[in-house]
Amino acid sequence: MSRTIIVSNRLPTKVQRTANGLTFQPSEGGLATGLGSIYRAADNVWIGWPGLVVSDPGEQQQVTQRLQADSMAPVFLTEREIQDYYEGFSNGTLWPTFHYFSEYALYEEVHWEAYVAVNRKFCEAVLELAGPDDTIWVHDYQLLLLPEMLRRERPSATIGFFLHIPFPSYELLRELPWGAELLEGMLGADLIGFHTFSYQRHFLSAVSHMLGYPNQSGQVETPSRLVLVDAFPMGIDFKQYAETANTEAVARQILAYREGFREGRIVLSIDRLDYTKGIAQRLRAFEGLLQRHPEWHGKVSLLMVVVPSRDQVAQYQSLKEEIDELVGRLNAQFSTMSWTPIHYFYRSFPFEELVALYRLADIALVTPVRDGMNLVAKEYIACRNDERGVLILSERAGAAHELSDALLINPTDTNHLVEALNEALLMPEEEQGRRMGHLRALVEQYDVFAWTKLFMDRLAYSKIKQHIYATD
Ligand code: G6P
Repeated sequence: MSRTIIVSNRLPTKVQRTANGLTFQPSEGGLATGLGSIYRAADNVWIGWPGLVVSDPGEQQQVTQRLQADSMAPVFLTEREIQDYYEGFSNGTLWPTFHYFSEYALYEEVHWEAYVAVNRKFCEAVLELAGPDDTIWVHDYQLLLLPEMLRRERPSATIGFFLHIPFPSYELLRELPWGAELLEGMLGADLIGFHTFSYQRHFLSAVSHMLGYPNQSGQVETPSRLVLVDAFPMGIDFKQYAETANTEAVARQILAYREGFREGRIVLSIDRLDYTKGIAQRLRAFEGLLQRHPEWHGKVSLLMVVVPSRDQVAQYQSLKEEIDELVGRLNAQFSTMSWTPIHYFYRSFPFEELVALYRLADIALVTPVRDGMNLVAKEYIACRNDERGVLILSERAGAAHELSDALLINPTDTNHLVEALNEALLMPEEEQGRRMGHLRALVEQYDVFAWTKLFMDRLAYSKIKQHIYATD
C-alpha cells in the first residue's frame, strides 16, 4: 500500500527544553491543521526539524519515540546547520530575495553549501521511510532542492511541492548566484503549487529565461519529464475559528478585555516579527491618523501583537528595536491619563484569547509589504460571526487576490492608509455587514481542507498526464 509523506522544515509539534526536561506542544499553525487528517492517517508520516538542537543520543531517541507515536519523524540539525542553512541561506538569502528585499540578502558560499547538505539530510530521512511508489509532499523555501534529490533516488515516486511564500519576478531570482539550481531542484516534483497565479507566472517566466525549458498552460517540459504548475490559494480551518468565536469562554474573554477599552474603538494588528509585514509602516500610518484626525484622540486604540521570530537574524533584531522605539515615542506623544493609543504585546496568545481579540477588533489592519498569502486576514473574517468589523488589507498579500471586499491599500502609501483607517472607523454597519458576508462565504468555502484536497487530486492527475505525455 502506498503512503503519503509530508516534509517541511518545521514539524507541527514544538519541542522545547525546560528546567523539567523536554516538552512537546502541538503547533497551532494552519498547515498542521490542514494536513492533520493526512499525516495521522494509516501509515503516513510528517518529517521535519523539531525546532531545537538535540545532540545527546539518549535525548534524540526520546524525541524520536515521542514524535513517532504521533506520526512524525525528526530531522536533527546541528548548531552550525541552524546558523548556515536556517538563519543563513533560508532566512538570510531566500526569504529576503523572494519578498523583494534583496538589499538584505546575503550571498555566502558556506550558507549555500549548508543548504545543499541539509536538503540532502532531509532527502536521506525521507528515503529511509519512503517506498518507491509513495506520495511525497514537500513544503516551502527551506527545501527547494529536495524534490530533485528525491527524484534521482525514486524516479517513480509521486512528488508534490508547495511554496508558502511569494515567488518573485525573474529579475529578483537572477540576482541569486544559485537561481538555476533552485529552479531545477523544484522541477524534480510532479506538481508545483503556489498561492496565486502571479507567483505561478513568475516561476514559469524564470524557468523559460534561466533554463530555456518550454512551457504552456502551466505545464513545463524538462528534458526528461512533464511538470505541472498551478495556483492553490491556501485557506484556514474556518469552522474551528467560527465555532470557537461562539463559545462562552470567548464571550467571557471579550468582556474582560472590553473593560480595559471601555467604549473605545480597537484596531488590531497581529504578526510574526518580520520586516515583510510592514509593522513600522503601520505604526507610522496610525501616527498619521492621530495627527490628521484629532477627533479620534481618546476614541481609538491600536492593539498590536508581535510574535517573536528568528531573533538570531540581524534584520529581525533591528526591526524589534525600531518597533519598540516607535511605540514608545507615539505613546509618549499622544497618551492621556485615561487613554493609551497603542497596546503593544511582544508574545504569542493562546488560541481562545486570539479569537477573542479578533471578535473584539473593529478593524483588522493587515498591511504587509509582501506576503505569500496572509492567514491572519482569513482568521479575522472567520471569527466575525456577527458580520461586523472591517478588514484593511495590503494589495501585496496573496490573500488580496481573493478578498476583494476588504479595503485594499498600498502599504507604503501612508496617506492612503491613514484615509483607509478613517474610512473604516466611519463605515456604516450595513456596509460592514455586506462586505463581511461576502468575505465569510469565500473563506468558508475555500478552507484548508478544500486546499489540501485540490492539491492532492491534482497531484494524482499529474501522474496520468505524464503517462499520456510519455506515450504520445
Ligand atoms: C512562514 C514560512 C514557514 C515558516 C513560518 C515560521 O510562514 O512560510 O515555512 O515555518 O514562516 O517561520 P520559522 O522560521 O519560525 O519556521
